[in-house]
Amino acid sequence: MRMIDLIEKKQHNQTLTEDEIKWMIEHYTSEDIPDYQMSAMAMAIYFNGMNNDERSALTMAMVESGDQIDLSPIEGVKVDKHSTGGVGDTTTLVLAPLVASVGVPVAKMSGRGLGHTGGTIDKLEAVPGFDVEVSQERFVELVNQNKVAVVGQSGNLTPADKKLYALRDVTSTVESIPLIASSIMSKKIAAGADAIVLDVKTGAGAFMKSVEQAKELAETMVNIGEAVGRNTMAVISDMSQPLGNAIGNGLEVKEAIDTLKGHGPEDLTELCLVLGSQMAYLGGVGSSLEEAREALEENLHNGKALDAFRTFIAAQGGDASVADDPDGVLPKAKHSQDVTAEETGKVSEIVADQIGIAAMMLGAGRETKESQIDLAAGLYMHKKIGDSVEKGEALVTLYSNKEISEDVISKVRENIKISEEATAPTLIHEIIQ
Ligand code: URA
Ligand code: CA
Repeated sequence: MRMIDLIEKKQHNQTLTEDEIKWMIEHYTSEDIPDYQMSAMAMAIYFNGMNNDERSALTMAMVESGDQIDLSPIEGVKVDKHSTGGVGDTTTLVLAPLVASVGVPVAKMSGRGLGHTGGTIDKLEAVPGFDVEVSQERFVELVNQNKVAVVGQSGNLTPADKKLYALRDVTSTVESIPLIASSIMSKKIAAGADAIVLDVKTGAGAFMKSVEQAKELAETMVNIGEAVGRNTMAVISDMSQPLGNAIGNGLEVKEAIDTLKGHGPEDLTELCLVLGSQMAYLGGVGSSLEEAREALEENLHNGKALDAFRTFIAAQGGDASVADDPDGVLPKAKHSQDVTAEETGKVSEIVADQIGIAAMMLGAGRETKESQIDLAAGLYMHKKIGDSVEKGEALVTLYSNKEISEDVISKVRENIKISEEATAPTLIHEIIQ
């Protein structure tokens, strides 16, 4: 086979065979196919797309390009969740213990944050003692014991995707639905998922700006999942404003604990129940999504979800008393400051990605992979879109261990708009089964 022939085929909108895709990914991973040929292929795919068979073949070729985590020693259906990235997205911290509390194993590998989006691993490190580096054997043992463990990514998973994603980033070919879908699905499958729940975000703070785009991406991923034997469901959720009230590592741990006690922010709680019921249902709880949801709701109110959180934190070396005294245990910021409303009205806009950048400037996120983060830094939104506010009332409180600069304050102020009328955005746009 010759790469140039495959490029020509895709350029003329012909279908690549499974063997051709496998050969291409194998030789690209081993560096026998140079970046410039792969760039041309990515651009041809960008313009001409891929059919269902090609997408599945590309996904599985990327899965097979590196290590695959074997979760078969864990009993039960291993359900993984993936979010396409948001600001203040605290769902994994809530979902891992919540879904475990109804008996479904959660064996989760998570990442660190970069830029304006946070990462679950950083958030967990805000709990003193919590260890995210766990051997593969211990990981399996923990999930069998407690139904839940969350660890940092290890091993050489989907090296083909790493190379291809970096290449797409510099050749303007990131925004191709078949390429995004196979990239995400290959990582979940290589990490050992039997079933997958996808949270596809839409709105200003998200990758997919419109509901239609988000829906197309979600449907493409669900089709790939089903084609390669993984039950997959998806939710299209709003990211026009940050999720919940807290953004920042320690602040989000506290928010997750509130939610597990049954009194978290409304939007975060609802999204966790929607995603959680899909995870629980795919994991065999209840005979419908409604029944799965009832089981989860019960555990948010009877203390079982919080108990699962305590067990999970303690098992990985963390201080479980954080569940009862978050303010006493979590890192505290030296400085805090309110940003107040300059007029009376209703909050009409909270630009999610810009607020995420403000949190990063306070120290909550990384500008580059090497930056150190401040686990106590971030911001707390007292108001969300649709809420009434009086002139002089606090909109947001900022937290940081460094002096809070005027730059951050004006960034927050510029990105929260107040009008006469505003209504809260729809949180869940669509559920795709
Ligand atoms: N996230 C991924 O993991 N891959 C993409 O291609 C885009 C977003
Ligand atoms: Ca949040």
